[in-house]
Amino acid sequence: MDWNNKVVLITGSSIGIGRELAAQLLDKGARVVLNARNAGRLSQTLQAFQEQGYQGIAAVPGDVSKPADCARLVEAAQQHFGRLDVVVNNAGISAEGDVGELSPEVFRKVTEVNYLGSVYVTQQALPYLRQNRGTVFFVSSIAAFRGLPGHAVYSASKVALKTLSEALRVEEERHGVHVGIAFVGFTENDPQKAIYDKDGVLIPQPARDFVRQEPVGGVAARIIRMIERREARRIFTLLGKLNGFANLFMPAVAGRILRRSYHQRKMGG
Ligand SMILES: NC(=O)c1ccc[n+]([C@@H]2O[C@H](COP(=O)([O-])OP(=O)(O)OC[C@H]3O[C@@H](n4cnc5c(N)ncnc54)[C@H](OP(=O)(O)O)[C@@H]3O)[C@@H](O)[C@H]2O)c1
Repeated sequence: MDWNNKVVLITGSSIGIGRELAAQLLDKGARVVLNARNAGRLSQTLQAFQEQGYQGIAAVPGDVSKPADCARLVEAAQQHFGRLDVVVNNAGISAEGDVGELSPEVFRKVTEVNYLGSVYVTQQALPYLRQNRGTVFFVSSIAAFRGLPGHAVYSASKVALKTLSEALRVEEERHGVHVGIAFVGFTENDPQKAIYDKDGVLIPQPARDFVRQEPVGGVAARIIRMIERREARRIFTLLGKLNGFANLFMPAVAGRILRRSYHQRKMGG
């Protein structure tokens, strides 16, 4: 696939996986529409790319959980570059807390950003993607394979992307639009990453040392390869693949492992 002059919209691309994806696509000659809510951080990212000599970038602040912002975002791709070839629904937030203690506001927020945000952007983009036989891509997680105790709302939002992509793939076949989804495993956190606690307070996420993590560069490269090959679905990392296998063929064993790790965490073990 020749990325030259292809236009890619990446939601949530001021830091983390989205930012790395943008960098690799710019390297390949694509034009990129960056997005995030925090306009200051987004313009820092834009400036950093421009200082590295990259051209063909637009940065559009906006919240994917707001349909009007999503419409503006997709329109911006048309206004800046006159076309849209690929949308990567990457923007995501996470929250930690048991179902019984998580505030309804946090439940609503995570669902609106991770699930509805992907729906709104996709709906706005489809007419343009159909013109170019383009791609809609969803960034899901291995947390979608089974409800993770202490992270139920995140798991639910990511499994919703799975069913959404399955339905959309069939619906869009006749229009030639490729629909892909990646079940991403543990990835190295951006130093600026933060997640919500049960009350909706943002907690910085220090580097995780309890599990092997994939570098963002590897995750972004695999997503790009999937888009180039028009692949439907892929599970990233060995742990992710084992997780998927165990939940499908040995659900009782997978359940026991999760239960033990949840109770150990609760006891501070
Ligand atoms: N990191 C992992 O280990 C991992 C594993 C599996 C799956 N994933 C998934 O991969 C994706 C990226 O994860 P990440 O770790 O790179 O995240 P991250 O470092 O926390 O970055 C998230 C990006 O999304 C933006 N964002 C958040 N809410 C938004 C909204 N409502 N509208 C627009 N932009 C928004 C953030 O900027 P603002 O805050 O300024 O909006 C930021 O640019 C997420 O969907 C995540 O669930 C990550």
